[in-house]
Amino acid sequence: EKGTYPHFMLKEIDEQPFVIRNIIQKYQNENGTVRLDEDIREAMKSSDRIYIIAAGTSYHAGLVGKQLIEKIAERPVEVHIASEFLYNMPLLSENPLFIFISQSGETADLRGVLVDVKEKGYKALTITNVPGSTLSREADFTLHTYAGPEIAVASTKAYTAQMAVLTLLAVDTANAKGIELDFDPIQELGIVASAMEALCDQKEKLEQIARDYLAVTRNCFFIGRAADYFVCLEGALKLKEISYIQAEGFAGGELKHGTIALIEEGTPVVAIATQEHVNLSIRGNVKEVAARGANPCIISMEGLAHDGDAFVIPKVHEHLTSLATVIPLQLISYYAALHRDCDVDKPRNLAKSVTVE
Ligand code: M6R
Repeated sequence: EKGTYPHFMLKEIDEQPFVIRNIIQKYQNENGTVRLDEDIREAMKSSDRIYIIAAGTSYHAGLVGKQLIEKIAERPVEVHIASEFLYNMPLLSENPLFIFISQSGETADLRGVLVDVKEKGYKALTITNVPGSTLSREADFTLHTYAGPEIAVASTKAYTAQMAVLTLLAVDTANAKGIELDFDPIQELGIVASAMEALCDQKEKLEQIARDYLAVTRNCFFIGRAADYFVCLEGALKLKEISYIQAEGFAGGELKHGTIALIEEGTPVVAIATQEHVNLSIRGNVKEVAARGANPCIISMEGLAHDGDAFVIPKVHEHLTSLATVIPLQLISYYAALHRDCDVDKPRNLAKSVTVE
């Protein structure tokens, strides 16, 4: 039920702090450390390469998951779009583990890959919001994202839940391998939940940004570097999906290899700047587009903000920035769609779960 909310999407955005806290509770043991099933731990530890398979927003969570697993657990990971993997399978390692990420657990493109890899005798883990779903039943192991039912077609809380669970998976694998962590994942996820709350409290400001930058535009670009690039892909998908504004996410340095030709007087460019090591270079990209007439909207993080940034996100741990950064992007998309009179919860041409290939 929507309760007092005008749309499921807004309700689901607001539920994210609760979802993160719920995940922490479900996956920590009595002494406050992360502990997943022994079977999953063993499968992660013994595989020589992990293949993440997903579509849409879940694919974007997978890109973040790759970084988390490689940085925290030091395991090599590849991320593939399910519908491509099916017809263009890469050379596999000797002992692969497949991770299927799917909110619904019913996406046909993923099922095709799952059937194929099971036939080849490989192990599969499904990360899903629906534990009884097809992908969950047919895989060897399941990790539940505990986000509660997601009704709006545009995925919001399932995405952040997937990234939180991927963080815990990375941490559990690191623990199993005896890798010493330099951060407390439970505490840092708690900080993320509080940051999400603070972000959800700034709706008026984000509504104003949507009005200023997106009320009438035909297109919009999102640029970011390193982890911010992945959030840009998600921000662009969210915006195009519900507001029908043509939106693209780019790695900051890539725009000038072609797409900068599309920048006209007033073209909105949302730049994400939450990564310290690339803060100056992404700001350099902003200058390049601004010089061609773009209307830049910089979203940065506490400690890295400059005068004139449109929005500043509370500081969270460097591994977890995507979980916070996506909140303003979700809300900006929501308000842009609202201003443009779009059907926020049920955008045209889209279904909540894509059960045909
Ligand atoms: O249920 P799944 O996570 O497998 O769905 C994958 C995509 O269809 C889904 O994420 C889609 O891109 C969303 N509508 C995006 O908001």
